[in-house]
Amino acid sequence: MEIKKVCVLGSGLMGHGIAQVSAQVAKCDVTMRDVKQEFLDKGMSMINRSVQKFVQKQLISEQAMKEVLGRIHPTLNLEEAVVNADLIIEAVPENIKIKQSVLTEADSYAKDGAIITSNTSSISITELASFTKHPENFCGMHFFNPPQLMKLVEIIRGVKTSDETVNAIVKVSERMGKETVIVKKDSAGFIVNRILVPALNEAFNLVWEGVASPEDIDKAIKLGLNWPMGPLTLADYLGIDTTFYIAEVLQGELGEKYAPCPLLRQMTRAGLTGRKSGKGFYDWTKK
Ligand code: 3HC
Repeated sequence: MEIKKVCVLGSGLMGHGIAQVSAQVAKCDVTMRDVKQEFLDKGMSMINRSVQKFVQKQLISEQAMKEVLGRIHPTLNLEEAVVNADLIIEAVPENIKIKQSVLTEADSYAKDGAIITSNTSSISITELASFTKHPENFCGMHFFNPPQLMKLVEIIRGVKTSDETVNAIVKVSERMGKETVIVKKDSAGFIVNRILVPALNEAFNLVWEGVASPEDIDKAIKLGLNWPMGPLTLADYLGIDTTFYIAEVLQGELGEKYAPCPLLRQMTRAGLTGRKSGKGFYDWTKK
């Protein structure tokens, strides 16, 4: 089955970008669903800003931009969003209860043979698949932030995921202009976050122990390792709360050596979540 219609559940930092690449690069018809009009409006305004950047750089024409926007249909109605979709990509908050409720409802409206995927960064794919009637048609489809620019999609097999599902997701990811890697076993953090989150956590530990300033830690890693952003800027960019949450999952599933730094916990509790709240290690209100 060729995937022509995509439904993205969630219009936040990841959802809007996934909806955009589905419409812009894979040229699919896209429904983007969220639970409040203001979330949808914010998602659409992020998409507008992003496509305008592509136009300014002459990577797409004005006409193409209009066509991309015309292919994206924001909606509050879950049934309407899901009912005709060949592929459903869940990108709601990283909370298993929310994911369970959205996936169970979406599954009840999905057409026969639809593939359901999750953009989760850490929750077990096998467990998420168990919320649907056809776990063989379910897998992880993990994009990276910002999805419009980052080249990778991690494809994660759940215990029951079929080869057909994996092959279909490899193909559609390639149509979205992405490179893919297959995570053969459903293991916490998959490949990238298993390596990235302990590295970010270690940067928090350096601040917590007073070993160096946040600015110098970022400078050291940018210039010493050629990262495009230092680890503390990156944690701000991704969300300190998201980073904390993933660290907790790694600790729970893989052991104490992955325990989150107390500073990660404190900043999350204080609402210093980074770019999305305007303040983390750095002030994002002026950017
Ligand atoms: N859409 C379109 N264009 C965009 C964009 C978007 N959403 N965001 C940025 N751009 C463009 C900018 O306009 C800019 O264009 P220009 O070069 O013509 O000025 C260009 O991209 C570069 O942007 P900036 O100048 O703002 O900043 P940078 O040079 O630092 O690039 C970046 C931004 C591509 C985000 C780069 O900093 C980067 O690669 N950072 C690391 C990101 C990363 O590691 N992501 C993965 C995180 S892990 C993850 O997501 C997993 C999850 O589960 C936690």
